[in-house]
Amino acid sequence: MKHRIISLIMPLILLGTGASAQGLKDAARNRFLVGVCVEGNEIYERRPQAEALITRHFNSIVPGNCMKHQFIHPERDRYNWRDADQTVRYGRERGMAVIGHCLVWHSQVSPWMFVDEAGKEVTRDTLIQRLHDHIHTVVSRYRGLVHGWDVINEAINDDGSLRETPYLRIIGPEYFEMAFRFAHEADPDVELYYNDYSMALPAKREAVCRLVRDLRAKGCRIDAVGMQSHLGLTYPDLADYEESIRALSDCGVNVMVTELDVSVLPNPWDFQGADVNQNFEYSERMNPYTAGLPDSVYQQLETRYLNLFDIYRRNADRITRVTFWGFDDGSSWLNGFPIHGRTNYPLLFDRQLQPKPVVEKIVRLLEDRKGKKKRR
Ligand code: GLA
Repeated sequence: MKHRIISLIMPLILLGTGASAQGLKDAARNRFLVGVCVEGNEIYERRPQAEALITRHFNSIVPGNCMKHQFIHPERDRYNWRDADQTVRYGRERGMAVIGHCLVWHSQVSPWMFVDEAGKEVTRDTLIQRLHDHIHTVVSRYRGLVHGWDVINEAINDDGSLRETPYLRIIGPEYFEMAFRFAHEADPDVELYYNDYSMALPAKREAVCRLVRDLRAKGCRIDAVGMQSHLGLTYPDLADYEESIRALSDCGVNVMVTELDVSVLPNPWDFQGADVNQNFEYSERMNPYTAGLPDSVYQQLETRYLNLFDIYRRNADRITRVTFWGFDDGSSWLNGFPIHGRTNYPLLFDRQLQPKPVVEKIVRLLEDRKGKKKRR
């Protein structure tokens, strides 16, 4: 109820201040959903100021952690539904498309998944059974409530080869098909996605296209590919990035931007991935903006976001959703990755939970009628 009152009053307050009453989601209407990754602060409404802005700007959410195997299925015979249920409730109450993230991932998976009681690696049949049970149990619980699932996350290396995960080692490449089939059996109406980072790389883009074609040839449902889009001010090359949007869509699936953020911090190793197991050493040189973001760097961030949204607008017939990986800079995972303890500024809302000026500029860019489309 509270959020309804806020969303009724908010436009009036904003009109009084001269700011546009349009949220990002309204400006992107008829093009794509605009989503945000949520954690406890959001789903339990701990920050009323953020709550009003989330309701105003976003029409889709994805949980940052609570649906990952490690959290939702911590022990073999025990599921932990509390935060996942609340995420779904929070989104449904606000008419938001709730995205499930993620069913199969080599990271943040409970260690019990791959070993028996004696600590020995499980057999292929056992792992298939466990995969089946996990996917069926989780997807069935939210049947009809969740808009789409990231079925498999990050299973392809940057060079296009298959990532050596326990699923690949124990089951073999058939696990891709099995995971998509199990999810479809558990909810025949829900959308199913493959999600990965560094998708501007040609080898990775081609491998994901092959995967899509292969799954389709085997009769599996796959609706979209998620390009995570953990980007920097200078990488990747935007022409490559746009080429991936087009190439993936030409494979016959929708494209989604699933984990958008733009790091403003130095990246001397040319590190572009999002492999959460990689970390580098801290130094002050690598953390230059602890006292605030200089305006010159903010301008680069703004330009980067406007260029990205120009690409999204141009390719709106191929893109069904753009989701940010977090609401505010203070909560971003990029303060801890790939180096712990830095101060990053990668999102649209600052540490005081205020919208950066770029929000209004994106709204105006999207309000421009060019590139409007009917949703597929
Ligand atoms: C990857 C995963 C996300 C999240 C981020 C880091 O991109 O897909 O779930 O863990 O890493 O926050």
